[in-house]
Amino acid sequence: MNILTVNTDSPEQTRALGAMLGNVASGDDLYLLAGNLGAGKTHLVQGIGFGLGVKEYACSPSFMIAREYHGRLTLYHLDLYRLDEIEEIVDLGIEQYFSSNAVCAIEWAEKGQGVLPAENLLIELTDLGGDNRRIRFVPHGNHYVELVNKLRESLSKDSLAKWNFQ
Ligand SMILES: Nc1ncnc2c1ncn2[C@@H]1O[C@H](COP(=O)(O)OP(=O)(O)OP(=O)(O)O)[C@@H](O)[C@H]1O
Ligand SMILES: [Mg+2]
Repeated sequence: MNILTVNTDSPEQTRALGAMLGNVASGDDLYLLAGNLGAGKTHLVQGIGFGLGVKEYACSPSFMIAREYHGRLTLYHLDLYRLDEIEEIVDLGIEQYFSSNAVCAIEWAEKGQGVLPAENLLIELTDLGGDNRRIRFVPHGNHYVELVNKLRESLSKDSLAKWNFQ
């Protein structure tokens, strides 16, 4: 299996994990984040921004649906939480975010099932209680299998932090 599972025990560690993903990200990457309220999706995307060299602080786009940040690559940070109908997602012109040499990270991606590209990196976050979170990276498509391998390699090479992953 190519699924990578990482357990983090602080918001900072989740950000650091996101930064590692941002470091190995490439243009047109699509990350679908799924998980309950407060699971840590926004923290992970903040980290992805750091890894991409974004200087502004990524906040939750809840009131805007989409935010744009500029680093080594553009990062589109979307949040579908407030959208109730699949048509609203289609009306958003969501494809514009996928094919522009940018990295696109979508919170509450479950809501977009059916209109989001089949090739993507699904990131499932689970609150295990306290500050513990389980973060599963599930690649869909060869590109994302390679990306997850790179992320795994970065985790195993990192001597500064003790990563709990499998
Ligand atoms: N290991 C951890 N990783 C990430 N966040 C953690 C962790 N432990 C505790 N937290 C806390 O959990 C909350 C996560 O908030 P965050 O906004 O990232 O969640 P979210 O999944 O984006 O929620 P929402 O669905 O409301 O957008 C924060 O209050 C953070 O401090
Ligand atoms: Mg959020």
